[in-house]
Amino acid sequence: MDKIVVTGNGPLNGQIPIAGAKNACLTLMPATLLSEEPLTLTNAPRLSDIKTMSELLASLGAEVSSLQDGQVLAMSSHDIHNHKADYDIVRKMRASILVLGPMLARDGHAVVSLPGGCAIGARPVDLHLKALEAMGAELELRDGYVHAKATGGLKGAVHEFPFVSVGATENALMAATLAKGTTVLKTAAREPEIVDLAECLIKMGAQIEGHGTSEITIQGVDRLNGATHPVVTDRIELGTYMLAPVITGGEVECLGGTRALVGAFCDKLEEAGVAIEETDKGLKVRRAGDLVKAVNVTTEPFPGFPTDLQAQMMALLCTADGTSVLEEKIFENRFMHAPELIRMGAEIDVQGGLATVTGVKRLKGAPVMATDLRASVSLILAGLAAEGETVVSRVYHLDRGYERVEEKLGACGAKIERLPE
Ligand code: EPZ
Repeated sequence: MDKIVVTGNGPLNGQIPIAGAKNACLTLMPATLLSEEPLTLTNAPRLSDIKTMSELLASLGAEVSSLQDGQVLAMSSHDIHNHKADYDIVRKMRASILVLGPMLARDGHAVVSLPGGCAIGARPVDLHLKALEAMGAELELRDGYVHAKATGGLKGAVHEFPFVSVGATENALMAATLAKGTTVLKTAAREPEIVDLAECLIKMGAQIEGHGTSEITIQGVDRLNGATHPVVTDRIELGTYMLAPVITGGEVECLGGTRALVGAFCDKLEEAGVAIEETDKGLKVRRAGDLVKAVNVTTEPFPGFPTDLQAQMMALLCTADGTSVLEEKIFENRFMHAPELIRMGAEIDVQGGLATVTGVKRLKGAPVMATDLRASVSLILAGLAAEGETVVSRVYHLDRGYERVEEKLGACGAKIERLPE
């Protein structure tokens, strides 16, 4: 296991290239199962989660070639000979559940391990299963696996989700492309990753309308073709790196970023006194005054403030002028970065889904532990601004979602290095 050592080193200035979206790539990859023709993804991020999804698809019989230093994924699912997604892969990454809908739609049967929970919550998949049942799937939960079949194929259905679920929308959307008849998904997720998936499926021959709104209509077709599709820019990596100049007082241009991807996040940063400029290359960000102002944050499904940027925003607000309240409404246990930030001198009071943060003059470097992907990067952001050295251990969490973080921040003047633990 590695650790990352960050030493507060003043303002960050320069440019940071933003990669393709992990959470788009993790749903675009299973889409290869929907067609016997090759699906090629460009602008793919180089992350351990992508390697895990490649392993899973290969275990089913798909061919996945990683080209151009991992930025191109050439996939072909001509011969799917195994329809069982094993627990030992699924437990490493819950997005593995996204092979269920495509396998069912393609061959009418699948056995997928239940993903189990993770640090931020129980994260059940009941909404995925209910949507597939609405489309005629027969599901049986046995020995920790979902045994699914759809004899005669899936059928189109009108299905309303009880609340927004990104993954359940993705599973149902992919399954519906090959179902017989029309499917309407209501209370569908509106995230840019959903739009990116729909646009890729349309290139493959799917008939989809309404993606990006809360009602998506899909006309099933008999088969899908291959396609080549660029993975959309990662809005969470974008938001994360936008905070680097804000927390340290410099100016950074995030290459490839657009305001449309992080609208609510930008609104909140501007409320806190941050200057954001859209350039022809991306988003240029700097802190307008000496300190950011305290602001209140509530996480919501897109287009609201993203839960995946809550931990990073908390790190910033630990150094704001005043008291902020962060409300986490998506996951039941997503404040595990708070005790680690407190070790760095932050003043945070967590009560259930609310965290009250009182800004302090300066954080102090300390040894801290990463607990989940976004918590780990919030500790690095805090370390950039802290006095002295911060040692973040268990950075395998970080490598799931951020490629070459020490290179990208180091290029802007951060004192940051990766060492074996
Ligand atoms: C996706 O997870 C993302 N992961 C998450 O990013 C992100 O935080 C989340 O969407 C919300 O935006 C990927 O895309 C791979 P949900 P997902 O289904 O699909 C509950 C990161 O850091 N729920 O929208 O699993 C669930 O427990 C990760 O990159 C059910 O109860 O999220 C949660 O409380 C973390 N039953 C809420 O809904 C279900 O069947 C939203 O979950 C499904 C979800």
